Amino acid sequence: MNSLINKIKSKKYASLGDEIIEQEINNFLGKKPKAKDKEIIKEVKTRLHKIYGSFQVNKKKKRDTLLEELKENQNSIELHRKILETNLSTKERLKAYNTLYYRIFQITGQPKSILDVGSGINPISYPFLECTPSYTSIEIDKEDVEFVNEYFKIKNIKGEAILKAINKDTIKDLPKTDITFLFKIIDPLEVRKGHKFSEMLLKGLKSKYIVASFSTKTISNKMMKYPRRGWFEKLLTRINLKFKIVKTQNEFYYIIEK
Ligand SMILES: C[S@@+](CC[C@H](N)C(=O)[O-])C[C@H]1O[C@@H](n2cnc3c(N)ncnc32)[C@H](O)[C@@H]1O
Repeated sequence: MNSLINKIKSKKYASLGDEIIEQEINNFLGKKPKAKDKEIIKEVKTRLHKIYGSFQVNKKKKRDTLLEELKENQNSIELHRKILETNLSTKERLKAYNTLYYRIFQITGQPKSILDVGSGINPISYPFLECTPSYTSIEIDKEDVEFVNEYFKIKNIKGEAILKAINKDTIKDLPKTDITFLFKIIDPLEVRKGHKFSEMLLKGLKSKYIVASFSTKTISNKMMKYPRRGWFEKLLTRINLKFKIVKTQNEFYYIIEK
């Protein structure tokens, strides 16, 4: 197992925790127990690209320098924006941040605590919240986790980033907060686990509100013809969860009340 993990952990996936890679290997072996190493490595790398690799903009060095600058100039929105630009998901949300949380909190009320699942570096958008909740971030990328923890420390935010993969066994360990963010995480999780996992996640989260977002662009960056996720809306209706929609240029947000 260790040698397989090391072969998969090429440069691109070097900062992923071993746990998530092992999980993917076991998933594949579950389906194809007799697969040879070469096939396992190829398949797991394809999976990792879908759930993780395709969102990375290789600017991790640049953001470290920006974080150093932030130490001297903690309230600079300009520096926050520059850091958010170093990750694809937050870069696409850059314009939307100005009003996004205001629009969400008009529905949910201002939160005292936030859980951000598969957060990437979204916690760096903290100043745009315009309130001061405690913040828990869950992420499988070790470098993102360290980066976000350093950010919380610099800004003196009551927050913690945790290196953890969400799966059926770890859902129950998630803390109870006023709001849970599932920003652009349902699609990558669906790739692996299907609608049943989304149902389990929605039911297992303890927050009063869940905000789940979906990109309105395809992986090749084209606008989707039908950006609403019909299957997701049907699922919400079936499990009796009410929702409202907030739409931005690049994203659809489902504000779900539990
Ligand atoms: C499309 S990105 C979205 C990042 C962030 N939520 C945002 O919208 O700015 C998906 C993120 O989920 C993380 N991720 C994927 N599978 C995960 C899992 N099982 N548990 C925790 N995080 C996961 C990836 O590392 C990546 O940072």
